[in-house]
Amino acid sequence: MVDKESVPVEEDIEVPPHIRRNAFGLSSELATLRAEQPVKRLMLPTGALAWIVTRYEYVREVLSDPERFGSDGTLPDPSGRVDVMATGAPARHGDLTTYDPPEHGRLRRMIAPAFSTRRVESLRPQVEETVERILKTMEHAGSPADFVKAFALPVPAMVTCELLGVSYEDRAEFNEHNVVRFDGTRDRATRMAAARASLAYMTRLVPRLRVDPDEGVLGMLVREHGSEIDDRELAGVGDLLLLGGFETTVNMLSLGTLLLLLNPEHAAAMRADEGTGDIIEEMLRYLSVVQTGVPRVARTDTVLAGQSIRRGERLLCSLPSANHDEALSPNGDRFDPARGIRTHLAFGYGIHYCIGAPLARMEMQIAFPALLRRFPGLRLDVPLEKVPFRRSSAIYGVGSLPVSW
Ligand code: HEM
Repeated sequence: MVDKESVPVEEDIEVPPHIRRNAFGLSSELATLRAEQPVKRLMLPTGALAWIVTRYEYVREVLSDPERFGSDGTLPDPSGRVDVMATGAPARHGDLTTYDPPEHGRLRRMIAPAFSTRRVESLRPQVEETVERILKTMEHAGSPADFVKAFALPVPAMVTCELLGVSYEDRAEFNEHNVVRFDGTRDRATRMAAARASLAYMTRLVPRLRVDPDEGVLGMLVREHGSEIDDRELAGVGDLLLLGGFETTVNMLSLGTLLLLLNPEHAAAMRADEGTGDIIEEMLRYLSVVQTGVPRVARTDTVLAGQSIRRGERLLCSLPSANHDEALSPNGDRFDPARGIRTHLAFGYGIHYCIGAPLARMEMQIAFPALLRRFPGLRLDVPLEKVPFRRSSAIYGVGSLPVSW
């Protein structure tokens, strides 16, 4: 468990323009880059150089071409026989986001059935019941409350634990690890320690699953693909699913609720379960909580938006910027569910498109209307300027959300 007290928080940390936000707004530098230099090489506060890709069409181009822009941090050797490490982060065992074809397809095909629309639909009654249970606990604990702790966090925590077949009692431990891992205000050593601790939890779980595979996703992998997947990869898959399904959904629920509290007409529609799908898609686009996804590395010398990019150079695709691009929809900086956009990039694009998207959508479809029906008088307890929006995190969100009802 990471000790909060001992974790240094750097107040004065330099926040790069593709991460910086102002409440619901994106940084003005990002809009300027998108208009004038949609593929621009910048030095990050770490001293590393990266191409920041900000326009919708170029973000899609990068994400849809894994042959040109790889995710696993390796480069084909000029002889074509072996891969050599590039500047990117090394691939981690079981972390699909850092796999390239053909390894990516091999692992993704094993995991995908657990997230098919049919399988996710079969979880609906369980998710409804989980949401009702959490609402009841929140009501009993009484007003006021920190919405993140009372609702936004336990919903995906419980759902992901049930899905994976891991103990809900351990959730406080891995939740803390997950927050720290993404938090750019923490130093690198602290973030790496949290990542290692989280993986260690899964590594302890795997031998038990080998002996007694349960009904969760990991148990399913052991039963159906046990001989094709080793312990290290299995632990890595568990870690990735815990990570991928958790912080993202916590922050969509927190920021989404805040947005609804500030837009009562949409809250009323959501309460009546009218246009829920459109409101949620617009929240995904407008909020774009995943700032860039994993860095891509150019696998060959190439050209993007007229810029020459050298083999081995790193690219960061700004999903919020792409999703606010006028080319996708006019007045992208406005929250407007009537636009009915389904082609946003909040879940990524191409082979790494979010495997958990159907589950995340279902959690939100159930959680928002149920919350607003249970607490019709839900309100924010502080002015918007006092809401602790995250300053520098790979996943945008809030530290807490004081509410009462
Ligand atoms: C609203 C919530 C969510 C958002 C906004 C989100 C967003 C994303 C994005 C943008 C990517 C692509 C990253 C890249 O290309 O670099 C991704 C991939 C992924 N997500 Fe999600 N995600 C969410 C929920 C979930 C859930 C609930 C799960 C599973 C329990 C999940 C598991 C994954 C996995 C395993 C990948 C990697 C897929 C691959 O590399 O093939 N996500 N997600």
